[in-house]
Amino acid sequence: MDQKVTKKPEGKLGVLIVGASGAVATTFIAGTYAVRKGLAKPIGSISQMATMRLGKRNENRFPLIKDVVPIADLNDIVFGGWDIRDENVYESCRIAEVLEEKDLAGIRSELEAIRPMKAVFDRNYVKRLDGQWVKTGDNKMNLAEQVRQDIRKFRSENKCDRLVVIWCGSTEIYIPVGEVHQNLAALQQGLKENHPDLAPSLIYAYAAILEGVPFINGAPNLTVDIPAIWELAKECKVPICGKDFKTGQTMLKTVLAPMFKTRMLGLSGWFSTNILGNRDGEVLDDPGSFKTKEESKLSVIETILQPELYPELYGEVFHKVRINYYPPRKDNKEGWDNIDIFGWMGYPMQIKVDFLCRDSILAAPLCLDLVLFTDLAQRCGFYGIQSWLSFYFKSPMHDYNTVPEHDLFIQSVKLKNTLRTIIGENPLDFLDETADAG
Ligand SMILES: NC(=O)c1ccc[n+]([C@@H]2O[C@H](COP(=O)([O-])OP(=O)(O)OC[C@H]3O[C@@H](n4cnc5c(N)ncnc54)[C@H](O)[C@@H]3O)[C@@H](O)[C@H]2O)c1
Repeated sequence: MDQKVTKKPEGKLGVLIVGASGAVATTFIAGTYAVRKGLAKPIGSISQMATMRLGKRNENRFPLIKDVVPIADLNDIVFGGWDIRDENVYESCRIAEVLEEKDLAGIRSELEAIRPMKAVFDRNYVKRLDGQWVKTGDNKMNLAEQVRQDIRKFRSENKCDRLVVIWCGSTEIYIPVGEVHQNLAALQQGLKENHPDLAPSLIYAYAAILEGVPFINGAPNLTVDIPAIWELAKECKVPICGKDFKTGQTMLKTVLAPMFKTRMLGLSGWFSTNILGNRDGEVLDDPGSFKTKEESKLSVIETILQPELYPELYGEVFHKVRINYYPPRKDNKEGWDNIDIFGWMGYPMQIKVDFLCRDSILAAPLCLDLVLFTDLAQRCGFYGIQSWLSFYFKSPMHDYNTVPEHDLFIQSVKLKNTLRTIIGENPLDFLDETADAG
């Protein structure tokens, strides 16, 4: 960074959500309004609740991040977005059944005022969904043009200074990186020719970046994780990040796996299974969408444990992940993990985890932080892949020369050190700890 950024932003920050009627999006929007009105606390949000140490330990400076880092104020956020359903956000909150009526009553009029724009959607990419609130166009390039117009219209009608787009849409089918994703020229040609490997999520991302708007990918879809989009993001000087919010079972994995490795304990197997009854669970019941999620969930352990360096400990790990659609549980996911580890002289041990979580309650604060930090990144002149935001993702994006960081606590240090650098403070290197001891 050339210079520090300490000035609070002025004007409105437009937050455009793809999948604005979904469980995560509506919980994010409702929670933000509730916090704004003093009706709820932003629990789980680093940007709103966490402190960070500045200087040496004996200086005793632990300010709230939001007091020292110039992120946008929640009161300056304006919400909008797209979905294949056209209910207003209050109705969508009720359909999602995440939040109770008592928590919606005080913010009802604000939620009723938000209605999604027509989506770019194609059933071939999300087989379990269908909707009428959908754009039509001659080809994918034309659909991207329509999204660009939506963005411009939203910007001017809401008098936004800056915008961020976040994908909270459904998980699309698995698409491996192919020729059409390799560079911008191939991508643009593919959009004109309706190439089947270009999914709707990519169309939104292409449009947003061309409009100079940062793009966050909360699902495991390929979307912005391809060389063609890295090229575009660099050209347009726009930050991008993803992919797949790290919320429940994978968050636990990225805490437990580093623990085994730090203590040189071996791992022979990790079986993870989930029951989930919301629309996301229904979408993931389709093998195509599940494959996208599975790839995202599986990559974590291997990258953390580095079996190539520790073949005796991690050379033969049996790792399996299952997601079962079970409607009675709705958004309240239950995730079980059975972990087979081994210790001194090879003796086996087991760990069982049963996490009764609430998917959207865990994801909503991540959306808020990502929106605020990505907007900050753009104001700092950062562009391309924002690896300092790896903390929030199951499959942190990285280019082909970089190894991703999965360990939650290293990711947290990376995040806070970047924030320290942005405001002109020294990053923590922990070397001063010994000097301070005693
Ligand atoms: N909740 C979590 O803990 C968590 C964690 C990681 C990732 N995710 C991902 O976040 C996404 C949202 O999860 P959710 O529980 O809100 O799902 P959801 O099914 O409730 O919401 C998804 C919304 O996206 C809409 N949609 C689908 N395709 C679209 C398109 N092309 N354009 C516009 N809208 C579209 C759907 O109509 C729906 O309203 C999913 O991909 C999920 O896998 C969630």
